[in-house]
Amino acid sequence: MAEFSNSKWSEPDFTQAYRNNADIIIVERKRLLSILQSFYMHFIFGKPERQVLDLGCGDGIAVYELLRVDSALKATLLDGSNDMLIRAKERLKRYDKCHFLCASFQDILNKRVILSNFDLIISSMATHHLTMEEKTSLFKIVYSHLNPDGYFLNMDVILSPSETLEKWYLQLWREWITEREATLKIDSHEYDGIINRYKDNTDNNPDRLNTQIESLQEIGFKDVDCYYKYGIFTIFGGKK
Ligand SMILES: C[S@@+](CC[C@H](N)C(=O)[O-])C[C@H]1O[C@@H](n2cnc3c(N)ncnc32)[C@H](O)[C@@H]1O
Repeated sequence: MAEFSNSKWSEPDFTQAYRNNADIIIVERKRLLSILQSFYMHFIFGKPERQVLDLGCGDGIAVYELLRVDSALKATLLDGSNDMLIRAKERLKRYDKCHFLCASFQDILNKRVILSNFDLIISSMATHHLTMEEKTSLFKIVYSHLNPDGYFLNMDVILSPSETLEKWYLQLWREWITEREATLKIDSHEYDGIINRYKDNTDNNPDRLNTQIESLQEIGFKDVDCYYKYGIFTIFGGKK
């Protein structure tokens, strides 16, 4: 199992570049976050105590969007990058019910961190850094740390089921970036190599959506489904 400290995410320059570019390179990022809010309001908001865990929280954007619809929720934000957590703390400084944990997925898998139980566990653009075996182990831990009727919602990139589809999905991604560049009047060619860099980065281990859905079902999650999909960008999850 590769340790977080050996990944690009342990380098502050790399995390800075992600923060600078995320709104452009993540397809329909605003839409993903608004679906997360809708999901939260539909399935979680009515519960008396709302405990949320964000795995690989980055600069805290997903929890921030949830706090905009429910400022009373309690959140734990976990990331291997201390640099990301500093930005998350800054973004969430107005909210006093946020708890920050500098730990890696490997720490979770090896039981080096102790987690409590949650009503909602989310992750955004992060679990594709694990192998499928590690993903399954993490999904099992997620299941064991959900309260009854709690939900897991994972927004992540996936591996296409075939080469033919992969070509089109990557083309869709390229078209999205081109559209964003036109809207924001960016003509620097800065994003030209982004898709190749994503494909070549050995930290990225996306797996097929079906494999991950089946893994959740085998673990015992109910209402497992893909809640949104745009090329390789997906939202999927299930209920305990
Ligand atoms: C693409 S960023 C996504 C950040 C944020 N969730 C978002 O949607 O903007 C991936 C995040 O996962 C974290 N990460 C990557 N591998 C990790 C690991 N093995 N353990 C913990 N965090 C990890 C990185 O530090 C980074 O903050």
